[in-house]
Amino acid sequence: MSSNEMNGTVFAPDNDLSENAYVSSFEQYEELYQKSIESPQTFWGEIAKQFHWETEANPKDFFSYNFDTQKGPIFTKWMTGASTNLSFNLLDRNVKNGLADQVAYYWEGNHPDDYSRITYKKLLQEVCRFANVLKSHGVQRGDTVSIYMPMVLELPIAMLACARIGAIHSIVFAGFSSDSLADRIDDCKAKVLITCDGAWRGEKPLEIKAICDEAMEKAAKLGHQVSKCIVVAHLNRVTPGCVKAAETIKSTPWNDDRDVWWNDEMEEAEAACYPEWMAAEDPLFMLYTSGSTGKPKGVLHTTAGYLLYASTTFKNVFDYKPGDIYWCTADIGWITGHTYVVYGPLANGASSVMFEGTPFFPDNDRYWQVVDKYKVNQLYTAPTAIRALMKFGDEPVLRHNLTSLRILGSVGEPINPEAWLWYYRKIGKGKCSIVDTFWQTETGGHVITPLPGATKMKPGSATFPFFGVKPSLLDENGVEVVGEGEGYLVFSQPWPGIMRTIYNNHPRYEETYFSKFPGYYCTGDGARRDADGYLWITGRIDDKLNVSGHLMSTAEIEAVLTEHKKVSESAVVSRPHPIKGECLYCFITPNQNEVFDKTLVNELKKLVRERIGPFAQPDVIQHAPGLPKTRSGKIMRRILRKIAINDRNVGDTSTLADESIVDQLFANRPE
Ligand code: PRX
Repeated sequence: MSSNEMNGTVFAPDNDLSENAYVSSFEQYEELYQKSIESPQTFWGEIAKQFHWETEANPKDFFSYNFDTQKGPIFTKWMTGASTNLSFNLLDRNVKNGLADQVAYYWEGNHPDDYSRITYKKLLQEVCRFANVLKSHGVQRGDTVSIYMPMVLELPIAMLACARIGAIHSIVFAGFSSDSLADRIDDCKAKVLITCDGAWRGEKPLEIKAICDEAMEKAAKLGHQVSKCIVVAHLNRVTPGCVKAAETIKSTPWNDDRDVWWNDEMEEAEAACYPEWMAAEDPLFMLYTSGSTGKPKGVLHTTAGYLLYASTTFKNVFDYKPGDIYWCTADIGWITGHTYVVYGPLANGASSVMFEGTPFFPDNDRYWQVVDKYKVNQLYTAPTAIRALMKFGDEPVLRHNLTSLRILGSVGEPINPEAWLWYYRKIGKGKCSIVDTFWQTETGGHVITPLPGATKMKPGSATFPFFGVKPSLLDENGVEVVGEGEGYLVFSQPWPGIMRTIYNNHPRYEETYFSKFPGYYCTGDGARRDADGYLWITGRIDDKLNVSGHLMSTAEIEAVLTEHKKVSESAVVSRPHPIKGECLYCFITPNQNEVFDKTLVNELKKLVRERIGPFAQPDVIQHAPGLPKTRSGKIMRRILRKIAINDRNVGDTSTLADESIVDQLFANRPE
């Protein structure tokens, strides 16, 4: 055990790291935190000074909110009166400040022979050119643009081009199915769709444009027609190793009236574009997150507050210093990629690695090879990836020099102590701080997290709130749990980066997040506070489950399963999984006279892949002649969760309408 490890479970930050950090002691954190809570205007007003504001905020109306549905509509407003532009602050401002030739992104492709880089100056030019392309296709301030792309440089270019002209981007992770994409295109009424011809995921080809074509057709049937589809020719760029496989991809499907190639459009476009000045609370982007029903929920983030929050969390949580090389492995299609691949790093003039590949291709040492190649200082990844890589032992890690690393981040799901310790010892060599960052699509940025130079770490604890964040734990009756204890994790006042609404559905926003406990934003997660005040996220306490850091709702999966004509009823629960954290375990009651067999199981798995996406595929589908229900017809999921893990200790079953069903379900377990 290294000398940094104290009391067995508490790990102090490395001394050098602490001394040089922006926030270098817990006392300093506490002081800043108090200021952020007591005088939000002074605290955030000071931070705002580094950015360009075309018009200044009204000091009398810097921050206002209502979190209590009983007092009126829910709202949050920061910096009323201010106007700015995100792309101007992320690009023009940095170029003016001397960063023109600094690399914004080192792009590392699926194959190690595929790599490139882009400077701030070049990024600004490309963004301006693409902003002009969008304008030439009639995209205006306030319009929405859907984006369905792999991790290529054109993706941040497209996002910032939208921001430059005041269009709202809606990115759909390119692992979602055409059905999911269609629903999202239709919900936000996207004028334009931006995509790629295809991409490689390891050795697997992804026919991205073909998925988009299906989605645009389906969206048209739902009533919304996309007017243009702009396509990046990415497959042309594959390296020799992949060319052979490229031949297996059919030529890109094309509709001459609707589709245009990115490169053709860019040729003529001017490399300058005056930014659209947006009001502080104008929308910046929406990003769909799973809701309890199949209907997508477009989480909406706005301009000024998101800029302040993305940039401040990035700077302090990763302790990013000029000259550092930072790498977040998340896909931009999720919120982690929005805030910590694009907006946060660029707002700080950072140099990042942007990675298109997977941790396992061409070999299981790819992450460590990339860290070594670029001398990465901050690595931000998910527990699922850490657990998957641990499996291969230390040898792939030892092939590379990882001494550049200073800070290791974790996000998306609780990190188990075993994975935490492996990350700390084997990757960080006992010298790096681990920042276990708790947050959500809705929160815009980290809300509970250690600060790397200030917070003593406990493996598995997200520790303390970030500046401006006021967490509470509530019991079932809405009473605050003081001191040690466990409860619903809620927040009693907004920080600048919190979502403002659900796109086109404010009542659903109020209902989902504010109706359970008036006066509080409800995360849907449970948490425990220990005797030292540390917060430990215990996981979702609603109908959501978290598979490999991807949140989905059991109701959403059940709705898909019962679409199958042979299925009468379904119930989905989560089961712990050694790598994915949780996986889907589904109980299926077939219609009378229908047989439950392998064919049905395969058809159901395929249906989930088609309706939602491959990442949502169930691990287990079990035959359930009946479901354990109370006399009033409520499914007792607690019992199903026990059956899923083969734990006979199911507790009280006397309220069940038919107790014998429990034994039948145990007998029917497929493994
Ligand atoms: O349950 C929490 C879990 O992920 C949920 C948010 O998922 P999503 O909106 O997809 O955003 C993921 C990336 C920010 C949360 O409600 N979660 C996220 N980070 C952590 C976590 N659970 C425990 N520890 C974390 N560090």
